Amino acid sequence: MRVVDLDRDMSDVIPTGMTPDSEFLFDRMTQVTLDRTQAAAGKLVLDVASGVGQDSIALATRGANVVGVEPSGRMTAMAKLFAAEKAGPMPDWVRGWSDSLPFATGSFDACICKGAMDHFDCPGEAIAEMARVTKVDGKVVLAIANFESLACRAGRGLDDLRQDVFGWPAVRVRRGYDAPSDHFTRYEVGLIREQAEQSLIIESLEGISMGWGMPGWSRLMAVLPSAVALPAVRGMDQLARQFPSLSDVIALVGRPRRSASTSA
Ligand SMILES: C[S@@+](CC[C@H](N)C(=O)[O-])C[C@H]1O[C@@H](n2cnc3c(N)ncnc32)[C@H](O)[C@@H]1O
Repeated sequence: MRVVDLDRDMSDVIPTGMTPDSEFLFDRMTQVTLDRTQAAAGKLVLDVASGVGQDSIALATRGANVVGVEPSGRMTAMAKLFAAEKAGPMPDWVRGWSDSLPFATGSFDACICKGAMDHFDCPGEAIAEMARVTKVDGKVVLAIANFESLACRAGRGLDDLRQDVFGWPAVRVRRGYDAPSDHFTRYEVGLIREQAEQSLIIESLEGISMGWGMPGWSRLMAVLPSAVALPAVRGMDQLARQFPSLSDVIALVGRPRRSASTSA
């Protein structure tokens, strides 16, 4: 049996009280990853681990033909409910695992996998499958949380100082730099690059946002006037573009590593 909770519904992932830094991070991550698919009318796009379907729906709203593939019936049921509230052509929903995608080689113009690869038990095989089902000149877009971000490093450094230098007891809440229990992989720039290179020719690797989850950062952003908080989070995003290894989220774009003359 596969160790995946197919009854999950994202209520533990989607933040409830949004602070300016959270709002910026989630919006920007979505905007960048969707933009990099180059979705438009006439394009066929696959959303792998489509979850509750918000990205598939947004891509369909841009005019693309979209397929959302997801193993969880519960998540897909929610996606169908959200899609039913929208006008215009909506995605097709297919049940399937990322490491054995039920599609022919070279079927899609683009393939997107956002915020999900750390939940996969076989991420290398999943990237190989995304590369297989994407056209040779198509795009595979991977977006994943960076557990070696500036915020993770700062949080870990502060805890080390508390415990090792001052001898204070460990903080009991879950530490932001620890991967959650439902993650198989703790991604950082080197690892995502190494896994992706097996199946993709990497075209770009971008950092998105910086500082999210840093001790005190969210609280500070929440109390500052928005005329100060917004330029601050935008400024940190500029830094993330310069230094992706310290960013909160990594967005990687590649094209399949196979020959147009030998493959579909
Ligand atoms: C955190 S959610 C992300 C969903 C969506 N991409 C988003 O950005 O909101 C992770 C998703 O990965 C799915 N998942 C877990 N293991 C999987 C696997 N091996 N193959 C495909 N999907 C998987 C889960 O069911 C869940 O919907």
